[in-house]
Amino acid sequence: MVVLSVKEKLSQLGVTVREDAIENFRHLARITALKHSVGGRFHSGHWWRGPLLYALVRYYKPRYVLEFGTGRGYGAACMAQASLDGDFTCTVYTIDVVPPTQPQLWAINEGNGPEVRTLSLAQVWAKHLPSELTNRIYILTGDSLSVMNSWRKIGLPQIDFCFIDGGHDYWTVKHDFITALMVANPGCTFVFDDYTERRGYGVKRLVDQEIVPKVPLEAVEVIDILSHDKTMYGEDVPHKMALLQGEYVTTVPLNQFYSSKYVRRFMLRYVIYAWSRSAALKVKPFVERAQSAWRFLGESTLRKRGTNDA
Ligand SMILES: C[S@@+](CC[C@H](N)C(=O)[O-])C[C@H]1O[C@@H](n2cnc3c(N)ncnc32)[C@H](O)[C@@H]1O
Repeated sequence: MVVLSVKEKLSQLGVTVREDAIENFRHLARITALKHSVGGRFHSGHWWRGPLLYALVRYYKPRYVLEFGTGRGYGAACMAQASLDGDFTCTVYTIDVVPPTQPQLWAINEGNGPEVRTLSLAQVWAKHLPSELTNRIYILTGDSLSVMNSWRKIGLPQIDFCFIDGGHDYWTVKHDFITALMVANPGCTFVFDDYTERRGYGVKRLVDQEIVPKVPLEAVEVIDILSHDKTMYGEDVPHKMALLQGEYVTTVPLNQFYSSKYVRRFMLRYVIYAWSRSAALKVKPFVERAQSAWRFLGESTLRKRGTNDA
């Protein structure tokens, strides 16, 4: 598998990102992708994914883009901007469980230094993104399981380009890939964020074990985004993205990565997996409260015993 740096990939795509354009991406990242770590540090996430998505969309000129995981909108905005600058018609459909009007803790630098505020995506976009850009982005609220389940029912189109950056566990990434394949036009290109050896992340396993063996060697590329992730487990992993170029997938049509029987079985298991995960998340606060009550009771019993023994 070819591994390229993001700068090499940009020049291969024939896109020169000028200094002023670089500054535009960095500015957009400070508004929509700034991160605040526990130690109080701010950093602009992996902002090079913006120029990469921009260049890929300008190169492939997709009519319909699907993004799993809107986040705060950096990826969607970069892809929509590419279609504006390239002067072609394009709609970016982007899915997230978090509704655009829901306030969230948002690290942002509007020019007066980085800070964390409580803002919603709708507020930030209205203030910082031009309507000619946001008009090209269509937000779908819900988990990817329910949104993709209703994709055809609500008359959404076949896609030409897909950015998978929602849930990063193996099961969810695979679900998102399979359901995107089901609505993809032949030649659709897929970009996966977080192709890394990171605990709990399943992108690398999916790409290496289930995509690479089924496509010609040149169809998959790994792109080094020139930044590192410091994970909650203390790991320091280089940030990479994987690219599946639909134009090279001639031997196996994209919609035949998995047999329909396999897909039916997988979807059934994924529904159970997603349901148990959301049930676990719902009961988590109660379990934590019960655990702390249990600890409190245990400690006061010990204290009492200590006093009695003395
Ligand atoms: C890393 S962020 C996306 C960043 C964005 N793609 C960008 O380039 O700026 C991941 C997002 O995926 C959303 N997400 C996670 N699991 C999801 C799921 N199963 N369905 C829909 N959205 C999900 C999270 O709420 C989060 O906002």
